[in-house]
Amino acid sequence: MVKGKNIKWHKAKVTKKDRWMQNAHRSALIWITGLSASGKSTVATELEHTLFCRKINTFVLDGDNVRHGLCKDLGFSAECRKENLRRVGEVAKLLVDAGVLTIAAFISPYAADRNNIRALFNSDDEEFIEVYLKCDISICEQRDPKGLYKKARAGEIPQFTGISDPYEEPLAPEIIIETDRLTVQESVDMIIDHLRGRKII
Ligand code: ADX
Repeated sequence: MVKGKNIKWHKAKVTKKDRWMQNAHRSALIWITGLSASGKSTVATELEHTLFCRKINTFVLDGDNVRHGLCKDLGFSAECRKENLRRVGEVAKLLVDAGVLTIAAFISPYAADRNNIRALFNSDDEEFIEVYLKCDISICEQRDPKGLYKKARAGEIPQFTGISDPYEEPLAPEIIIETDRLTVQESVDMIIDHLRGRKII
C-alpha cells in the first residue's frame, strides 16, 4: 500500500525494452537463496565477473553488503528479514528496469518473502530466476568461513539460520545447484546455460 497522498507515477520516455535493444541483452533478477556458507556470494561474484567480461550490464546485491548501508538498521528477526528483502526486492526491480542483469545473494529463508519478490516481476518475460544453492548444513558448518556457525552453536548468535532459526527450502526454484557436489565454475555455468536457454543473454 502506498502511504503518501497526491503522488502519481511518472512515465519514462525510455522503456526497459528500449534498454534491452540497446544493450543487446535482456535484464532479469537472478535470486540466489541458501544457507550461510552455501556459496551464495562466491557464485554471485564469479557469475558477475563472467557476465561483465562478456560486456553484459550486471550488478550484485549481496546480503552482508546491503546490511552495511541500505539495511543497516535491520537485524535477523522474521520481521527484519522481511523488511530487508522487501527493500532489496524494490532496489532489484529498479535495476532490472534500468536494464541491468541483477544478481542478488541473500539467505532469504522464508518462502513468503521470496515469493513477494517474485510477484514484483513480470512472469511473461521470465524476469525472476530463483536459484537455490542446496548444500547440506553439515558441509556449511564445516566450511564456516566467517566462524558464524561456531558462534551460533556456542549460543553467541541468536536466530541463526539453520541452527536456531528456520530455512524454508524453495519448492519450485528455476535452478537447483548442489554446491556440496559441484565446483564454483560448474555452478556458474549452470546459471549461464539457463540465461542462454531463456535468451536473456
Ligand atoms: S536474510 O535472512 O535477511 O536474507 P542476509 O542474506 O541479508 O539474511 O544476511 C545474512 C548474513 O548475515 C550472513 O551471511 C551472515 O554473515 C550474517 N548473519 C549475522 N547474523 C545472522 C543470523 N542470525 N542468521 C543468518 N545470518 C546472519
